[in-house]
Amino acid sequence: SGVKVVICGGGNGAHVAAGLAALNGADVRMMSTFSDEAERISAALAANNGLLRVTYTDAGTTKELDAKLSVVTKDPAVAGKDVDLILLVVPAFAHAGYLRALLPNITPGTVICGMPGSPGFPFEVDGILGPELSAQVTLMDWATLPWACRLLEFGRHVEVLGTKESMRGSVRLGTVPSRVDPVPCLQSLLGQRPVLNASGHILGITLGSVNQIVHLAVMYGQWYNWDGKGLPESPLFYQGINEETGSLLNSMSAEICALAKKISDTQGVDLKSVLHIYDWYMDCYGKDISDKSTLATSMRTNASYRGLRHPTVVGEDGLHRPNYGYRYMTEDVPFGLVITKGIAEIFQLPTPNIDRVLAWSQKQMGKEFVRESAGGRVCGSDIGMTRAPQRYGLTTVEQVLGVPKQ
Ligand code: NAI
Repeated sequence: SGVKVVICGGGNGAHVAAGLAALNGADVRMMSTFSDEAERISAALAANNGLLRVTYTDAGTTKELDAKLSVVTKDPAVAGKDVDLILLVVPAFAHAGYLRALLPNITPGTVICGMPGSPGFPFEVDGILGPELSAQVTLMDWATLPWACRLLEFGRHVEVLGTKESMRGSVRLGTVPSRVDPVPCLQSLLGQRPVLNASGHILGITLGSVNQIVHLAVMYGQWYNWDGKGLPESPLFYQGINEETGSLLNSMSAEICALAKKISDTQGVDLKSVLHIYDWYMDCYGKDISDKSTLATSMRTNASYRGLRHPTVVGEDGLHRPNYGYRYMTEDVPFGLVITKGIAEIFQLPTPNIDRVLAWSQKQMGKEFVRESAGGRVCGSDIGMTRAPQRYGLTTVEQVLGVPKQ
């Protein structure tokens, strides 16, 4: 009965996805391989008559919904039996573990969906499945999570604070037809919103990711010439940016747009979803921005960014110093900018501004992703912890565009 869906993960988003999919008629297998999460969720559900509560607020109305999942398990053989759709709803660093665990259950025609997929998602799938199987499955890569959400009680009660109006993504159809029509199927599991808007080549979601340039340009702008002295308070993240940082972000974005253009012009693929960062801001936040004169003023006067501060660590002296262990670096470098750099390298497009920020970032992280002595190529000793195409041995234009060619 119903579409057989594996929801991978045990966090905020995974609970919402599992609850809504079950409410919309799917056979939901929630799978978490992390620690004892699956057991803890099962126990919490059992104590609640097997029901997962989703408090869903939308357009000012709050509904209490009770969902019944088919199973919660750590065991990929149980979760993955005859699966139609695998939905990854975890931070990008956790994708590989799930793909490897479910590999024996991934068959021609399975749909694999990253929500969010995050940069490098298609490379990771191709690298783990290998070229033959990878060509036979269908991929969906979404730019974000559909909801702002948080767990109220682990395993038992999750709250949806807001649902996006629409969500941008891309589909790569397999050579073997999928058992479900991917986008309509996912839409029916999520409900009316967000409206799923899938278009263009799957690489568009990787290249179009904004966090990889926004977070890193702002970090670089704030700290690259820092004198090492602690600060009495953490600087404002977006409201604190100056024209120089805005200009750097502009240039990094322009490099990515040039890369997208080179790929579309030479390979005939559609990468129109890769927007310049200024246009992206106008699209997503237009009505929240009071001064649109430059990129920097737009970011400084974006109402939804108000009050957000830099990630810092507070020392014994009570002073703030930058926290380079925060996800703005740990995610947006290995699961972000390094990947884009890796693609640019394969298409032989110079990216001096991205290079500058990457060189600085990896130094702060104590990692080597790009090797200075090899002309800044993506062959550093730490590429194993990235999703750059080079990490999976994908080094030609054909391999990067993926199998099958779209
Ligand atoms: P979360 O922080 O609740 O996810 C944590 C889950 O990831 C854990 O429950 C576990 O299942 C898994 N995990 C954590 N560490 C792991 C490890 N070492 N090994 C294996 N699995 C591990 O994340 P959430 O809130 O569900 O978000 C999922 C993604 O969506 C993230 O990338 C997040 O940045 C993004 N997002 C979240 C939003 C929200 O409102 N929660 C809004 C927009 C985007």
